[in-house]
Amino acid sequence: MSFPSNRILSGIQPTGNLHLGNYLGAMKNWVAMQNDYECLFCIVDLHAITVWPDLGEIAQSSREVAAGMIASGIDPEQSALFIQSHVPAHAQLAWVFNCVARLGWLNRMTQFKDKAGKNKEKASSGLMVYPNLMAADILVYKASHVPTGEDQKQHLELARDIAQKFNVDTGKEVFPLPNPVIQGPGTRVMSLRDGQRKMSKSDTSDMTRINLTDTADEIADKIKRAKTDPEVLPDKATGLAERPEASNLINIYAALADRSVDDVVAEFAGQGFGAFKPKLAALAVSVLTPIASRMTELLADPAELDRLLARGADKANDIANPVLAEAYEAIGFSTTGIKR
Ligand code: TYM
Repeated sequence: MSFPSNRILSGIQPTGNLHLGNYLGAMKNWVAMQNDYECLFCIVDLHAITVWPDLGEIAQSSREVAAGMIASGIDPEQSALFIQSHVPAHAQLAWVFNCVARLGWLNRMTQFKDKAGKNKEKASSGLMVYPNLMAADILVYKASHVPTGEDQKQHLELARDIAQKFNVDTGKEVFPLPNPVIQGPGTRVMSLRDGQRKMSKSDTSDMTRINLTDTADEIADKIKRAKTDPEVLPDKATGLAERPEASNLINIYAALADRSVDDVVAEFAGQGFGAFKPKLAALAVSVLTPIASRMTELLADPAELDRLLARGADKANDIANPVLAEAYEAIGFSTTGIKR
């Protein structure tokens, strides 16, 4: 069985603001891979309801994420940019995977434990089976590569396990084993206030993250007030071990500048944060503020964004529907009435 060798699928939730972690861990890499791969980028609104959001806001948040992606350099003419719920095959294949993945596998997912918190009994069942939907997002396109931040690693391993079990159980090689692409210094951007915690949309303090829509002053202020330690910067990257906040700021610098950590460390060796932070702030402002202005322009024309997203959904449906039919056939369902 031959599978596509250069097809990317990745996704992002339409909840809260896009932040520097999303940009450096995911979107910037997507843009860089866009010319070498056939790309599908999905705004995962079905995932967003696993933790019930403000219902009136999902459509607008989805547009905002689409605008953020385009402003960051995703070309919606070249790549398929679409909303997950516009492609029903994701949810249909996810149901099949609910019957393939074992509860023991899902019980090991650390993100479920983090998100459900102490009150596991009150979490939605959707939150528990979330990784099955994520596997369906990827496998319904037979994607070969999935570029994400580090936090998605365990889910991507599960997607491979699900693909393999489906193939073994049906005796048909329907799904490839997708390759995670987690690369570069921006795959784990940490909170500006605590180098042990991930930068996240859900953190209650806005000072922990840089939003893609922050103004130049806000970016500079957040970096100025970012937690650091009293030491000067080391002359080797190994000197950043045990210094999570310093390491985070250097990684952010390297990822924003498209340079290696070693290179950045060599430049700032022996300097304190008083010298380093203004340089980091200037770099972040120069990269991020043009994205924010472009987002504002794009959001001024919601009808055009909706048109682009509908086009993306058409392209995605054309690929996904035959794969769903193939999976149904492998299971042995009657497929005579299925639209492909
Ligand atoms: P989400 O919406 O939390 O994040 C979107 C992307 O941003 C990356 N990311 C980060 N990278 C580095 N540092 C951070 N602090 C940081 N925070 C977020 C994430 O790794 C991700 O790449 N379950 C996924 C969405 C999803 C998906 C998929 C991804 C649904 N289906 C299929 C890939 C393939 C999520 O919640 O991402």
